[in-house]
Amino acid sequence: MFFPIKRQRRLRKDERFRTTFRETQLLRRNLVYPIFIEEGISEPSAINAMPGQMRWPVEKVSEAVGEAVNNGVSSFLLFGIPENKDKFGTSAYDPDGVIPQAVSMLRHRFPKALIITDVCLCAYTDHGHCGIPDASGKIQNDETLTYLCQMAVAHAKAGADIIAPSDMMDGRIAAIRSALDIDGYGDVPIMSYSVKSASSFYGPFREAADSAPKFGDRRSYQMDFANAREAFIELNLDYEEGADILMVKPALPSLDLIRMARDAFQCPIAAYQVSGEYSMIKAAAANGWIDEKSVILETLTSIKRAGADLIMSYFAPQAATWL
Ligand code: PBG
Repeated sequence: MFFPIKRQRRLRKDERFRTTFRETQLLRRNLVYPIFIEEGISEPSAINAMPGQMRWPVEKVSEAVGEAVNNGVSSFLLFGIPENKDKFGTSAYDPDGVIPQAVSMLRHRFPKALIITDVCLCAYTDHGHCGIPDASGKIQNDETLTYLCQMAVAHAKAGADIIAPSDMMDGRIAAIRSALDIDGYGDVPIMSYSVKSASSFYGPFREAADSAPKFGDRRSYQMDFANAREAFIELNLDYEEGADILMVKPALPSLDLIRMARDAFQCPIAAYQVSGEYSMIKAAAANGWIDEKSVILETLTSIKRAGADLIMSYFAPQAATWL
């Protein structure tokens, strides 16, 4: 059947038709708000490269969470910035570290909120890598797993609802799963950053979390963004190792990979609209080159259409007010 019998515009005629036949609906409960929490500050401090986002002291982070909750956001992803960094990222697995403190406080103040914690060493190491380097600077895989396990257990102990490892070491999901199980946290799910590309879109985050690598780059552990078959292998390994939720990031440059994950696995799929995606929209909108609200809703809806059940986005509190 072709034109003039077939006319696609019939169903787009006016708002009633468009509303009735819209296929994808973004919901507030699809959104997760990432928040930066810094040790040793007393006032929130602005992140230059991410207008509107702050680093929060533990004592005041409930202001940010409370505002987002009032807007209808119920899930949060927490990143910590410690006062002291060292080669082994010691403050990452300190049971009294910045994230355990924030989690136990938020747990009590917001009993209905879902609290997810990022597990990775890069913000806690003085070299800024997600794993521990050897003398030649090579990032050691298996040695790093021990520390990631301790970090995950410290977060679970403090009351984290979901553990989200983002380091991209091999075998981390199996290692963290068994560490959680042995310590009595068998019911705490793991959301794995399974397909995490070595992306330049993380630039603003590295200012926010003070986590830029001091030498080299992350390409020996994060994936090549050019590879889709390899992305499938990463997803499959994490699923087989026991991940409960599989994540793809960055979101907009990886819509095909989100779709692949959605079609290949029956578990929940997550996608991360990362800092660079956020900052590009903010910068263009500030210049009047794009309409901020409609671009935010278009990107988030497209990420959901590609197959994401859960979307980490710095726009979460803002977007929630429009949904
Ligand atoms: C930690 C981590 C990063 C992001 C999430 N977890 C940074 C990186 O890998 O360099 C990026 C998130 C963003 O850009 O918003 N490894």
